Amino acid sequence: MAQRIAVIPGDGIGKEVMPEGLRALEAAAARFGIELELEHFDFASCDYYAEHGKMLPDDWFETLKDFDAIFYGAVGWPATVPDHISLWGSLLQFRRRFDQYVNLRPCRLLPGIKSPLAGREPGDIDFYVVRENTEGEYSSVGGKMFEGTDREVVIQETVMTRHGTDRVLKFAYELAASRPRKKLTSATKSNGIAITMPWWDERVAAMGKHYPDVAVDKFHIDILTANFVLHPDWFDVVVGSNLFGDILSDLGPACTGTIGVAPSANINPEGSFPSLFEPVHGSAPDIAGKGIANPIGQIWSGAMMLEHLGHPEASDAIIAAFEAVLAEGDTTLLTPDVGGKGNTESLGRAIAARLEG
Ligand code: NAD
Ligand code: IPM
Ligand code: MN
Repeated sequence: MAQRIAVIPGDGIGKEVMPEGLRALEAAAARFGIELELEHFDFASCDYYAEHGKMLPDDWFETLKDFDAIFYGAVGWPATVPDHISLWGSLLQFRRRFDQYVNLRPCRLLPGIKSPLAGREPGDIDFYVVRENTEGEYSSVGGKMFEGTDREVVIQETVMTRHGTDRVLKFAYELAASRPRKKLTSATKSNGIAITMPWWDERVAAMGKHYPDVAVDKFHIDILTANFVLHPDWFDVVVGSNLFGDILSDLGPACTGTIGVAPSANINPEGSFPSLFEPVHGSAPDIAGKGIANPIGQIWSGAMMLEHLGHPEASDAIIAAFEAVLAEGDTTLLTPDVGGKGNTESLGRAIAARLEG
């Protein structure tokens, strides 16, 4: 039976990289005999907001809940819709309502891409960020008082639950245990954030008792960001709260040359709801419309989606295809962020052509 994918391009470069994500996905599906049924949606975008005054139709949950996966581009167009409205009206709803509590973000220095860190080669940077994705600092608990006066107060609480924390830690430990280095790093700030973060450290230690083979260390987030730059080779699996994971998953890919290649999987590991696959980057208004966005973040997210759907060989083939195109280094095909003179489509077509063999 065909697996059903909801395709949502979103805004800005989301609409430019999605066709290339689909080109690679369809090439891999054809090669490996995978039956995919794609359904396209225009909601969860600021264009939809302009027309309807909201980011999503009222029945979005019912519409999407039985898909096998969601393939998303990027959302946000701050010139017309404030970011907190567009994001809380779309992506953050999907993550929460579909209980996608793991945000898995690989960070790998790819062949042919120059790291901005001196002397780093492929193999030196190869880790995962496991980001808690449904609670933490991204909470709607809080409010404003005395608005408009000089006594104005704004409060936004961090919410961490044992259930929510333990389940993402378990995922991170399992992932670390499955990798040759078996190493887990926890992002903390238990010196300064003196209630939630010492508690996070306790939960990390408690979960670690079930994984005696995994070596665990922790760093406060400030020095951890420094160590991403100075010693990216130290890391294997890095687990963090929602906000810390967000920050680390832009910094990590920046250390690999461009955030344009970074993929992500918003996973509901139990499979009660669809998981969502999207690049780490946003809608990039500064380059939108130019056709020069790197499509690899979208394409690699498609590979993660195929792996999630039970097609690891097709997933591996997509990764091998973009690695081969990058390694060849034909600058007429590559996008400017990786030193090329090509564009989104030339790079996307070259990758799909590899897949077709
Ligand atoms: P951004 O990721 O869109 O862009 C940051 C920088 O990286 C820009 O200079 C951009 O040109 C560059 N960049 C991003 N993707 C690229 C690609 N594929 N190829 C080449 N260069 C690329 O972050 P931002 O500027 O902070 O946010 C822009 C909008 O996107 C905002 O509305 C923001 O809220 C939203 N956003 C959405 C998501 C998402 O949908 N998951 C993620 C981040 C930001
Ligand atoms: C991401 C993005 C989102 C986040 C924003 C756009 C709300 O930065 O997916 O990393 O913070 O989760
Ligand atoms: Mn982010």
